[in-house]
Amino acid sequence: MAVCSCSKNNKSDEDRFIDDLLSRMTLEEKIGQMNQLDPEWDAELKEPLIREGKVGSIFNIVGAKEVNRLQRMAVEESRLGIPLIAARDVIHGFRTIYPIPLGQAATWNPELVEQAAALTADEATSVGIRWAFSPMVDVARDPRWGRVAEGYGEDTYLTSQMAAAVVRGYQNDNRQSSIGQSSIKMAACVKHFAGYSASESGRDYNTTWIPEVQLRDVYLPPFKAAVDAGAMSLMCSFNALNGLPSSANKHLNIDILRNEWHSDALLVSDWGSGSDLVPHGLCADKKEAALRCINARMEMDMQGNIYYDYLAELVQEGKVKESQIDDCVRSILRMKYRLGLFENPYVPEEEPVAYTDEALALASDIATESIVLLKNDGVLPLNLKPSTFNILITGPMADQPREQLGTWIFDGEPEHSVTPLEALKQYQTTSNNIKLLFEPGLAYSRDKSTANFAKTIAAARQSDVILFFAGEEAILSGEARCRADITLPGAQSALLAELHKTGKPIVLIVMAGRPLAIGADVANADAVLYAFHGGTMAGPAITRVLTGEAPSGRLPMTFPKMVGQIPLYYNRLNTGRPTYDPPVLIDDIPVGAKQFSVGYSSCWLETATEPLFPFGYGLTYTTFEYGETKVNGQLPMTNDQLPMTNDQLPMTISCSITNTGNVDAYDVPQLYVRQMSGDFARPIAELKGFQKIFIPAGETRTVTYTISREDLGYWHEEKDGFNSRVWFATDEAEFRFSIAPNAGAAQLR
Ligand code: BGC
Repeated sequence: MAVCSCSKNNKSDEDRFIDDLLSRMTLEEKIGQMNQLDPEWDAELKEPLIREGKVGSIFNIVGAKEVNRLQRMAVEESRLGIPLIAARDVIHGFRTIYPIPLGQAATWNPELVEQAAALTADEATSVGIRWAFSPMVDVARDPRWGRVAEGYGEDTYLTSQMAAAVVRGYQNDNRQSSIGQSSIKMAACVKHFAGYSASESGRDYNTTWIPEVQLRDVYLPPFKAAVDAGAMSLMCSFNALNGLPSSANKHLNIDILRNEWHSDALLVSDWGSGSDLVPHGLCADKKEAALRCINARMEMDMQGNIYYDYLAELVQEGKVKESQIDDCVRSILRMKYRLGLFENPYVPEEEPVAYTDEALALASDIATESIVLLKNDGVLPLNLKPSTFNILITGPMADQPREQLGTWIFDGEPEHSVTPLEALKQYQTTSNNIKLLFEPGLAYSRDKSTANFAKTIAAARQSDVILFFAGEEAILSGEARCRADITLPGAQSALLAELHKTGKPIVLIVMAGRPLAIGADVANADAVLYAFHGGTMAGPAITRVLTGEAPSGRLPMTFPKMVGQIPLYYNRLNTGRPTYDPPVLIDDIPVGAKQFSVGYSSCWLETATEPLFPFGYGLTYTTFEYGETKVNGQLPMTNDQLPMTNDQLPMTISCSITNTGNVDAYDVPQLYVRQMSGDFARPIAELKGFQKIFIPAGETRTVTYTISREDLGYWHEEKDGFNSRVWFATDEAEFRFSIAPNAGAAQLR
């Protein structure tokens, strides 16, 4: 095997190497590369196929020894010695588990997210994994959909920042690496391309109908950001998008990914998403599915075996050109080449990297920053000064090492989790006036039994404060774990209501995989922390916030008051009948009211359009006062408004923020923009920038954002008979800007 330089920039070496190898491959060997196998599922198939050079990638094999054993078969026994690439669902950590991605998004701190990805790559690559099936960058506006846990929330801009951060963390980590000379440790796989998250009624794998312009404005930019950050691969999505599943979608995979974005990243199917074209009702059989997929340039088939079974036949029948196959194989070889696998196919069989002090400290920091303070009537931070202070720890999530890790933690080990109960016990050793009482009240989140209520209420009466750890078990979110009712499951709300009657102060801490509809629970608590599934170090993180560290998380998704409001997201259109005044609610309508008497605005009879908590929301232990938003250093002429003309771009938008309380804290000022008129109706607010800044008590900081013409553009569409054309442009229009602490506070009307 020729040894090549792995420099990413040395294109010609790379091309020469790949062309040479390709010219020596048989059709069967080429098709073999397009095959990704989970050896657990194909146990008897795997070894002979690897030896014959008919497997391009294996996944779900963990351990340097086993990966090397299979790799030796590929490198030393197959005719051309092409190495395998070992993949895995490494989603939010490997051994050390960081918060679920939705929680990571709540940090609004892409730097931390990047660091977590880099440390994740250290752990995963030490057991042979060179390809992670993440980040998932599907913008999600429906908390019923279980996979909101895996993404970065409802906003395109925030998700794009996080997408690029994860790609950089996995791929661009230039620290000394144990896996050879490639500067790329682990390839990212950006998923699910595309439009998966807009599933009807929040049900997984369900159909999505997304107009082209919305696809491009809302759903595609995070993929583009990841591709621009150098993402080495993308994964197709399962759903039918406008009737066409992405494994067969030429428009997505060829027009957009290849021709518009000029990406040379590898495109892999999702698990059997190619063969799923049959149940989708697109293809009569798997052979036809293979044809549709290759024609749409799905390059590697994950676990579907349709390429393995039918591609050669399709070439022989003249239905598929060998050059189509070459294009796909080139992408696969390119990724292996750039990862340095030809040069250095084996993993050192050393003690795997896991739970380093650095990783655990980072896991605690990122989990701390992911916690969002939603309400505080003054009970937080806990006043631990009295000579005795009795804390009741209750609720089904207080001591659940497995559940706090969240979904997709194949390699996470609950025995390494530090639960809130354990962390508070550790904290108690440093503060001996604290007495901890523990009565979980409910055994698990769905527990409906009231058998332990009396005991828990009795304990509550002995306490000075109640910490109620509520939420969802890990299995209730993630793939195929959608919910039609997103209130707290089981008897949690009932127990909380009973505890509320004791009159003791209650801190509700929610550990969940999605935004839950917790309006009634919030009313029964004096303070509320939303902690998502915080990972290995969730307990210490929550303890840090309870005992004084100022929270700095902000919501990455709108929290609805009730499930019927969904989809509820901040950057909606205004409609022609917006609601500004409180609507007339169902119980206020007089019996026999005339049709016109209660108004005609766009809202529900049970609630206004307002959410329980808006996107971007989060309190802390101090208060911040925002000055007026200035454009190019000047106060707005009226109401934050400044007519835009071409020569005013780029603009600087700034605002001063004063910490008016007594505690040093981070704030997350967010820049929102609204276009007031133009070719098409535009959202009432759009996030265009954010910063996470530390402001000591009593001090003022000025934040400044620069807005370019492109930042204000969006996709337009023109229909002309049967033809339709889309293009990106910025209208000549009036724009309003507001730097605000959350989307609900943006002054854009
Ligand atoms: C999921 C992907 C995942 C793949 C491999 C699929 O069911 O949709 O996100 O990477 O399985 O496990």
